[in-house]
Amino acid sequence: DDPALIDTYGRVATDLRVSLTDRCNLRCTYCMPAEGLEWTPGEQLLSDAELLRLLRVAVQRLGVTDIRLTGGEPLLRPGLERLVADVAALRPRPRLSMTTNGIGLAKRARALAGAGLDRINVSLDAVDEETFVRITRRERLDHVLAGLAAARAAGLDPVKVNAVLIRGLNEDQAVPLLRFCLEHGYHLRFIEQMPLDAQHGWNRAEMITAAEILELLGTEFTLTPSPAERGGAPAERWLVDGGPHEVGVIASVTRPFCAACERTRLTADGAVRSCLFSTDETDLRSLLRSGAEDEEIADAWRATMWAKLPGHEINEAGFAQPIRPMSAIGG
Ligand code: GTP
Ligand code: 5AD
Ligand code: SF4
Repeated sequence: DDPALIDTYGRVATDLRVSLTDRCNLRCTYCMPAEGLEWTPGEQLLSDAELLRLLRVAVQRLGVTDIRLTGGEPLLRPGLERLVADVAALRPRPRLSMTTNGIGLAKRARALAGAGLDRINVSLDAVDEETFVRITRRERLDHVLAGLAAARAAGLDPVKVNAVLIRGLNEDQAVPLLRFCLEHGYHLRFIEQMPLDAQHGWNRAEMITAAEILELLGTEFTLTPSPAERGGAPAERWLVDGGPHEVGVIASVTRPFCAACERTRLTADGAVRSCLFSTDETDLRSLLRSGAEDEEIADAWRATMWAKLPGHEINEAGFAQPIRPMSAIGG
């Protein structure tokens, strides 16, 4: 009986992504509608104590070594600093990271780093003010830039930037984003847009592919493959102008990396998912609230992962988008 989270394709999930809330304070057009979504009611969200119990099971019984806090927007979770400190106090101590839109980070980066956060990924799709507003529908570019600077000053290392390019909206930001990140020492990754938007408006022809991203960057920079080990990481890395700086491309659609996946996911309402694109998930919250023992919870989690499919089917004819949008799964 292997205690780890393994599947029938021999993959081992050591990397847990936890959504702390499905709420967000931006309204990125490729993610959700202007009016927002119907947020999960409070009583359905895991409390801090419930969440910590599940995370303890994950690190102590299931071999999870890395925990990433996501959302929605994780900074909107009340008491986040306390929660980070409690997660960092788990033994064995997991490596702890967060994916955020950076709003409010300027004031909180130091406390988060002090509480035990190791590193951070910040979403930024434009360095041009007008373009930022057209994408996010909020005038917050300066907040995000201040958040990035504060993250670096707080010693979070590396500080990564995630950028999604949308045709007709921000392709022209590819080069400026890379210039900006090179100048400040942030690790930039471009992400292919995936069919995970709440509006179900994704279409393949509109997606900017990894090949196009490399072409856009190629007009100003010389990119050569990075010699660094990729492991289970989603980003393919390129040396910029011979290095040492790099840029990453996360080609989830045109060059899927599912065969090397090391991930398991927990939603803010306590469901375990084996994949971003899973069509089913396991409700651990009910199990927890019905008084289950740790080992029963661990078994349910293992069974979910054992049933993991070989990969997403975005490129197959019968592909169906999962019911939950990205903001409710956790990026
Ligand atoms: P590190 O490389 O460890 O910093 O983390 P990461 O890149 O996995 O984390 P982040 O939350 O920054 O994710 C970046 C992007 O990768 C997400 O926005 C997704 O687009 C994509 N991504 C994350 N997890 C998955 C996954 O399981 N499958 C696929 N196809 N894409 C993923
Ligand atoms: N496809 C790819 N990336 C997405 N993100 C949000 N929605 C999508 C999508 N449909 C990105 C955000 C953020 C990260 C958590 O996920 O821009 O960088
Ligand atoms: Fe918020 Fe992220 Fe969705 Fe933008 S992509 S609206 S930052 S959850």
